Amino acid sequence: MKYNLSNIKKAKKILDKHDCVAIPTETVYGLAANAYSDKAVKKIFKLKRRPKNNPLIVHYYSLMELKKDCEIGVNFQKLYNKFSPGPITYILRLKKNSKISKKVTNKKETLAVRFPKHKVARKLLKLLDYPLAAPSANISTKISAVNSKHVEEDFGNKIKFILDGGNSVIGLESTIVSLVDRPKILRLGGLSNSEIKKVLKKNLRLELNPLQTSSPGQMKIHYSPGIPIRLNIKKPREDEAYLLLKKNIKFQKNVYYLSKNGDLKEAARNLYFTLRRIKKDKFKSIAIEKIKNIGLGKTINDRLLRASKFNG
Ligand code: TXA
Ligand code: MG
Repeated sequence: MKYNLSNIKKAKKILDKHDCVAIPTETVYGLAANAYSDKAVKKIFKLKRRPKNNPLIVHYYSLMELKKDCEIGVNFQKLYNKFSPGPITYILRLKKNSKISKKVTNKKETLAVRFPKHKVARKLLKLLDYPLAAPSANISTKISAVNSKHVEEDFGNKIKFILDGGNSVIGLESTIVSLVDRPKILRLGGLSNSEIKKVLKKNLRLELNPLQTSSPGQMKIHYSPGIPIRLNIKKPREDEAYLLLKKNIKFQKNVYYLSKNGDLKEAARNLYFTLRRIKKDKFKSIAIEKIKNIGLGKTINDRLLRASKFNG
């Protein structure tokens, strides 16, 4: 998609005034504000109806800016060289003299940081003299937005401006890896764990249990389209939408596909989009076929499992 420089400048103007703007990223859209400003960050929490103890990810343009706020080590450097900018978020120790608003972290001593790859996001970050705190641009516990229309559906005119950057090409949130102690994955995401393992050459611990609160966004009910979801279904009911990983001519009625041939990257990109579509098509529930639990399939299954906890 071709970006529009005057829109990027408009976003900057609003952000400079300590207001929020929705921004495109390659994973999902973010609800962004100046991470150095208490006033701006407060607005994010309010708009999103997000609990204050759930810290935000901060988005940087380059390593130079990050180094002012966070301590970095060897593992970070390895991962950064390989995967950033891209769909990976690092949990790092904050520097004592960092300017990050205490509201971003809920006074924690660590910070979640990411370098988005999306052209429009990068262009914007480059123009700013502060990093952007940005959680996913959706109402808390609901499905993330993967285009500007979705953001509009969730927030209407409560947000001053939505910077359009087309559809998010990854379509799932970033993978979160904590580098505060021994590396561990806190959230499965758009980069698969095996890729991270290869670079660190170590076994990676997973800490995805919703009862452990080191990543509060991993709460049990999350990513919900707002209608019940049933998993691993071979035979859907007459009245439900049936979501398949790949096209299958055996099923004709009420069927949606995540990909043409079962490609998991394509399926990931289409997941939130399709769940929102099904809801719009007025189905009251969704049956989903079993999705292979490898690579990005693991992230897809993680999101679906959490979404399936919604039942009313
Ligand atoms: O792809 C993404 O990561 C998107 C785009 C917009 O960058 N952002 C995103 O943000 O998904 P959000 O706020 O929806 O999810 C951030 C997660 C939350 O689960 C939060 O609890 C966790 O990161 N988190 C933030 N700071 C943390 C910290 N210091 N330690 C552990 N987890 C943290
Ligand atoms: Mg989120």
